[in-house]
Amino acid sequence: MRRLKLIMQSLPLILFLSLECFHLAASAVDQFTFDGFAGGNLTLDGTAVVTPDGLLMLTNGTTLLKGHAFYPSPLRFHEAASAGGSSSSPMRSFSTAFVFDIVSEYADLSSPGLAFVVAKSGDFSTALQSQYMGLANARNNGNASNHFLAVELDTIVNAEFGDMSDNHVGIDVDGLASVAADNAGYRDDRTGAFRNMSLLNRTAAQVWVDYDARTSLVNVTMAPLELPKPKTPLLSAAVNLSAVIGGEAYVGFSSSTGVVASRHYVLAWSFKMDGPAPSLNLSKLPALPVTIHGRAPSNILKIVLPIASAALVSALAIAVFIVHRRRLKYAELKEDWEVAFGPHRFSYKDLFHATNGFSDERLLGLGGFGRVYKGVLPVSGVEIAVKKVSHESRLGMKEFIAEVVSIGQLRHRNLVQLLGYCRRKGELLLVYEYMPNGSLDKFLYDQNRPALSWSQRFRIIKGIASGILYLHEDWEQVVLHRDIKASNVLLDAEMNGRLGDFGLARLYDHGTDPHTTHVVGTMGYLAPELGHTGRPSKASDVFAFGVFMLEVTCGQRPVSQDAHGDHLLLVDTVLEHWRRATVGDAVDPRLQGNFALEEASMVMKLCLLCSHPLPSARPSIRQVVQMLDGGTPLPELSQAHLSFNMLDLMQNQMDKSCSAASSVAGNISDFPRAR
Ligand SMILES: Nc1ncnc2c1ncn2[C@@H]1O[C@H](COP(=O)(O)OP(=O)(O)OP(=O)(O)O)[C@@H](O)[C@H]1O
Ligand SMILES: *[C@@H]1O[C@H](CO)[C@@H](O)[C@H](O)[C@H]1NC(C)=O
Ligand SMILES: *[C@@H]1O[C@H](CO)[C@@H](O)[C@H](O)[C@H]1NC(C)=O
Ligand SMILES: *[C@@H]1O[C@H](CO)[C@@H](O)[C@H](O)[C@H]1NC(C)=O
Ligand SMILES: *[C@@H]1O[C@H](CO)[C@@H](O)[C@H](O)[C@H]1NC(C)=O
Ligand SMILES: *[C@@H]1O[C@H](CO)[C@@H](O)[C@H](O)[C@H]1NC(C)=O
Ligand SMILES: *[C@@H]1O[C@H](CO)[C@@H](O)[C@H](O)[C@H]1NC(C)=O
Ligand SMILES: *[C@@H]1O[C@H](CO)[C@@H](O)[C@H](O)[C@H]1NC(C)=O
Ligand SMILES: *[C@@H]1O[C@H](CO)[C@@H](O)[C@H](O)[C@H]1NC(C)=O
Repeated sequence: MRRLKLIMQSLPLILFLSLECFHLAASAVDQFTFDGFAGGNLTLDGTAVVTPDGLLMLTNGTTLLKGHAFYPSPLRFHEAASAGGSSSSPMRSFSTAFVFDIVSEYADLSSPGLAFVVAKSGDFSTALQSQYMGLANARNNGNASNHFLAVELDTIVNAEFGDMSDNHVGIDVDGLASVAADNAGYRDDRTGAFRNMSLLNRTAAQVWVDYDARTSLVNVTMAPLELPKPKTPLLSAAVNLSAVIGGEAYVGFSSSTGVVASRHYVLAWSFKMDGPAPSLNLSKLPALPVTIHGRAPSNILKIVLPIASAALVSALAIAVFIVHRRRLKYAELKEDWEVAFGPHRFSYKDLFHATNGFSDERLLGLGGFGRVYKGVLPVSGVEIAVKKVSHESRLGMKEFIAEVVSIGQLRHRNLVQLLGYCRRKGELLLVYEYMPNGSLDKFLYDQNRPALSWSQRFRIIKGIASGILYLHEDWEQVVLHRDIKASNVLLDAEMNGRLGDFGLARLYDHGTDPHTTHVVGTMGYLAPELGHTGRPSKASDVFAFGVFMLEVTCGQRPVSQDAHGDHLLLVDTVLEHWRRATVGDAVDPRLQGNFALEEASMVMKLCLLCSHPLPSARPSIRQVVQMLDGGTPLPELSQAHLSFNMLDLMQNQMDKSCSAASSVAGNISDFPRAR
C-alpha cells in the first residue's frame, strides 16, 4: 500500500527529470528544481540519504559523522567564450533557494549545522565532522587549495573560527572562519527592523544564495516559510569566485554531527545559472517525521492538593524545607543541554562526600587552574582526583563541556583518564582517575624521595611519547596538549608515566575574546614560534616534549638562574655539553653514573632535534617514537644547529613581537617563575 503510494508520488518527478535531462542533453545543466527529493538523482556520501518520503537527510542522528549530497554532474560557472570554454573567461551569476530544518535531541543544543556548498571537487572524504562540518580538516582549514564557497547555518560557537553565536549564518571561503556572518534572521520589508530566527526551533525555513558576477557579491537571505523573499539580504560579501572555484564546480550540501545526535534535513532545492532560482512549491514539501513534544503536566495535582489534610500539607512543607536546605548545600548548575552528557556528569553531593567535604587533608596539590583533591566514590569505592576550576563566565561553557565529554572518550595507557565533570555556580569540577604516585616533578626535585632509576626514566619518556602520538594521530581529531611538562605527568601504581591535563588549555580560549591569541603553556617549554604566531601546533607540542625529555634526563628545570642572576636555558647547557662532547656530565647527578650512556645521549640528541627553532625541522611525534624505540637511527645535528643559542633566539623573537602579543609580554616578566 505504502509502496504503491510512493511510486505514484515519484512517478511524475522521475518523468519530469528524465524529460529535463533529455531536453538539456546537448548542453550542460543550468537549472534544476527539487520540490522534495523522492526519485531525485543526487550523489550522496556518508550519512546522507534520501528518505522514502523525499527528505534529503544529511545526518541521521548518529554522533560524530558527516554527510554530503551533490548534484551528480558539475555545473559550468564561467561563460563559454569559445568551444570548451576556459576557466579564465568571465564568471556567470547564479542563484539558489532551499528549505532546511534541523532536528536536534535538545531544544537549545545541537551539532554544528549544515552548509550549502559550491566546490571544485565533490570529494570531501578527508574533511572532518563536528565543527569542521564535513568541509575541511585541522590541517587544510582555510587553505586556498580547498576551492569551496559555503554558506553555513551554524548552531555552535567555535572560538577557533571566530563564531559570533550559536545561531548564525556565515559565508565561508575555503575554511570555516566566515568572511561574513550574522545572527540568523531577516529584515522586515515594511519596517526594516531585524527579526531573529532560531535555527533550532524545529521549524523549516527558506534560504536564498545569490551571486552577481558583475559585482562579485554573494548575498544570503533567509526567511520563515510563510514570507516571500525579503528585499534586503542578511549577508552580502564580495567573493572572487573565479579564484575560488574557477570553471566547473559541484553544488550541494554538507553537514556533520558532533557529540549531540542531530538530524539535518533539506526539504526542497532549486538552482539556476544567470537568473533568479525557480521558486519552490512549498505546498509540495515532504513532511518531517513526527517528533513527540513534551506533554503538559497532569491535572491530578490540582485536584489532590486542595483536599489533602492540613497535616499532610504541613508535613510536606517541612519536608520541602529540609530538602531545600540540603539542595542549597549541594546546589549545582545544570541546564537542559547537559542532559546529553548525563553519564559523564557527577553529582556534587557524591563528590562532596567522596572528598570528605573537600577537606584540606584530602588536598593533593595546587595547580595553575585550581585545587586538586583526592576522593573515593561512595558506592564503587573507585579512587578519584577532583580538580576544582573556578570559572566566571558561562560563555562557551556548552562547547567546553562538549569537548570535555569528547576528551573523556580518549583512552590510552599513558593518559590520565578523565571520568567526568560537575558544575556549580562559578565552579567546574573535573573528575580524573587517581594516580597514587603523584606528579613526576616531585620525584625529580624532591630530595626526600628516592631518585628514579635511568630505566624508569627511559620508560616514562617512551610512555609519554606514545601518549602524545595517540593525541596527535590516533584520534579522529588532532588533540594538541599545549602544556606538556613534568608537573603534568603523573605516575600510576606501576610508575608508568601518564599525561594529564590534555585539552584543558582550551579553557583559556573559551569565554574570552576569540580575536586575541593567548599563549598557553609554561615558560621554558614554549616553542619560539609561539611568540609571534601564538598558534599552537603539533610541532610546538614536540618542542615541549623535547624540553620535558631533557628535564627528566638531567633532573633540572628548563629555566634556571646562574650566579649573576642571569637566565639559563637547559637546552643551551646541553648544547654546550654536546659541542664539548661531555653529554655524560649533563645527566642527573642523582643517578651517580648508573645509566646507559648510549641511551642517555640518544635522548639528549633527540631533545636537541625536537627543540629546533624551525617548527618544520622538528621530527613528528611518530618519528620521535620510532627513534626512541631504536627502530630509526637519529640524523646528525647540523653545524648551524650546534651553534645557535636558544635564549638569544627567544629574546630576539620577543623583542620583535612585543606589540603583537601583550600576553606573551606578561609571561616574560614571569620568566624566573621556574615552574
Ligand atoms: N589524577 C591525579 N592523581 C593524583 N594526583 C593528582 C592528579 N591530578 C593532579 N594531581 C596532583 O595535584 C597537583 C596539581 O595538579 P595540576 O595539574 O592542577 O597542577 P600543575 O600541573 O602543577 O599546574 P598547571 O595547572 O599549571 O598545569 C599535581 O602536582 C599532582 O600532585
Ligand atoms: C547513520 O549512518 C551511518 C553511516 O552510514 C550508519 O553506520 C548508522 O547506522 C546510521 N544510523 C542510523 C540511526 O541510521
Ligand atoms: C544520475 O546522474 C548521473 C550523472 O549525471 C548519471 O550517470 C546517472 O545515470 C544518473 N542516475 C539516474 C538513476 O538517473
Ligand atoms: C595548502 O595546501 C597545499 C596542498 O595540499 C600545501 O602544499 C600547502 O602547503 C598548504 N598551505 C598552507 C598554508 O598550509
Ligand atoms: C537576536 O538574537 C541575538 C542573539 O541571540 C540577540 O543578541 C539580539 O538581541 C536578538 N535581537 C532581537 C531583536 O531580538
Ligand atoms: C520558530 O521561529 C520562527 C521564526 O523565527 C517562528 O516563525 C516560529 O513560530 C517558531 N516556531 C516555534 C515552534 O517556536
Ligand atoms: C546583493 O545585495 C546588495 C546589497 O543589498 C544589492 O545591492 C544587490 O543588488 C544584491 N545582489 C543580488 C544578486 O541580489
Ligand atoms: C580574481 O581571481 C582571478 C584568478 O585568481 C584573478 O585573475 C583576478 O584578477 C581576480 N579578480 C579580482 C577582482 O581580484
Ligand atoms: C504546487 O503543487 C500543488 C500540489 O502538487 C499544485 O496543485 C500547484 O499547482 C503547484 N503550484 C505551483 C505554483 O506550481
